[in-house]
Amino acid sequence: MTLALFSLRRSLRRRLLGWLLIATAIIGMVALVDTWQEAVNTANTVSDRVLAGSALAIAERVVVAEDGSLEVDIPYVALEMLTSAAQDRVFYRVDGPPGTFITGYQALPVVAGKPGQATAFADATFRGEPIRVGALQRSASTGISSVPFVVTVAETTIARRQLAEAILLRSAARLLVMIGGAAIIVWIAVTISLRPLNRLGAAIAERNPDDLQPIREEVPREVEGLVETVNSFMVRLSTALEALRHFTGNASHQLRTPLAVIRTQLALVTRASTLEEAREAAAKSDAAVARAERVLAQFLTLARLNGATSGEAGAPADLDLLRLAQDVTADHVPAAAAAGIDLGFEGEGSARIAGEPLLISELVKNLVENAIAYAGQGAEVTVRVTQEEGAVLLSVTDDGPGIAPERRADVMRRFVRGEREKAFGSGLGLPIVEEIAMLHTATVTLEDGAARQGREGRGLKVAVRFPPAAMRTAGETPA
Ligand SMILES: Nc1ncnc2c1ncn2[C@@H]1O[C@H](COP(=O)(O)OP(=O)(O)OP(=O)(O)O)[C@@H](O)[C@H]1O
Ligand SMILES: [Mg+2]
Repeated sequence: MTLALFSLRRSLRRRLLGWLLIATAIIGMVALVDTWQEAVNTANTVSDRVLAGSALAIAERVVVAEDGSLEVDIPYVALEMLTSAAQDRVFYRVDGPPGTFITGYQALPVVAGKPGQATAFADATFRGEPIRVGALQRSASTGISSVPFVVTVAETTIARRQLAEAILLRSAARLLVMIGGAAIIVWIAVTISLRPLNRLGAAIAERNPDDLQPIREEVPREVEGLVETVNSFMVRLSTALEALRHFTGNASHQLRTPLAVIRTQLALVTRASTLEEAREAAAKSDAAVARAERVLAQFLTLARLNGATSGEAGAPADLDLLRLAQDVTADHVPAAAAAGIDLGFEGEGSARIAGEPLLISELVKNLVENAIAYAGQGAEVTVRVTQEEGAVLLSVTDDGPGIAPERRADVMRRFVRGEREKAFGSGLGLPIVEEIAMLHTATVTLEDGAARQGREGRGLKVAVRFPPAAMRTAGETPA
């Protein structure tokens, strides 16, 4: 049963056939019940007429005797016309004025005729068999007075039933042939209608895996929507694929540069004539390894972010952004000092947001590292966490050269870097910052920073605004 239902759901053809069969079975049942009633009526009408004729023939033979009593000479032909059909048995009785039985089967049930109706019919049982009874009311005339009498003729109902059954069987057979014909038509029609889909399937199967061109196959109108959906999906897929190719190309380029440096420096180590030279080359290749490590770390963060958009990132926790930013800043103080930068933190109390701690520290780290890398020696960098109207604001401000307003949109794109940057980088920091912010429904803006007297440039302030807690749905990965 479940298997049948399962395959019903899977096959369009079987499903259509199933519906057709169920519908025709119900309609067929109703039709057969109606046919049966009609057939019984027809059989009764036909046989009742014979029954009435037979009663009439007997009534013709009822005469009034000289003593005034009724006499009847049963004409057996009258009964013969009934027995001709099947194995039916025939009974009769003749009654005179109320209470006087003349002849026939006295136990035969009598039928009370309706007034004004010469012949009355009824169904009854006699000797345990169903019978049909017909009663004819007449009166015989003596010339002076008339004597009423009733002729009752009855027969078993075998012939009638057989007639009705024959009619029913014929109708049922006709119905079955019709259902069978319809089923065959549905089978063929579905096969023909599905042909365009098969062609579509074959056309897609033949395609080169790289071919993401829209499907141009002729399909039935009902399937056009599906094909359109698949086409728009292919467009999105090819855009994503293009982005992935672009990313892989850039990424391998990013990794190749430090690897080439490592190779050259290692070659120098082997050829070095003094320990001093060898040390220098080793230090350079060590720096290159650090760069490669940094590039890989950025890639991993991006991969994690892609996982996060598809719901794989850890659930956002209730975290204190102020504490976290303060810790990240503290971690970078030595590096800042080495670059001749005064790195400081501003903020009091706590500032709670719903966020993924590792991602948020990645965000802060990228901004602080940028400031250290690009603000220039002697610069002042301030990491600040403030709250306004429930929103939590994180900013990293420096008084370095800054970024020209027309370049700000550009540097947010992957692999885009400043033209004359001496510091190593892959151009992924700010895009990562933006993606993490987006995951937390936060916004990133680049503004002029703190221009300080005696220093050139506009400075840069990167502000990340986390909306008030009410707007973030706690416990849900922000999209
Ligand atoms: N504080 C800043 N001051 C001046 N320019 C900046 C500052 N931060 C970023 N930039 C400019 O924006 C560019 C892009 O920065 P981003 O962090 O996206 O990449 P990157 O630092 O070059 O590489 P990565 O961070 O992936 O190692 C930088 O190359 C730099 O030119
Ligand atoms: Mg950076």
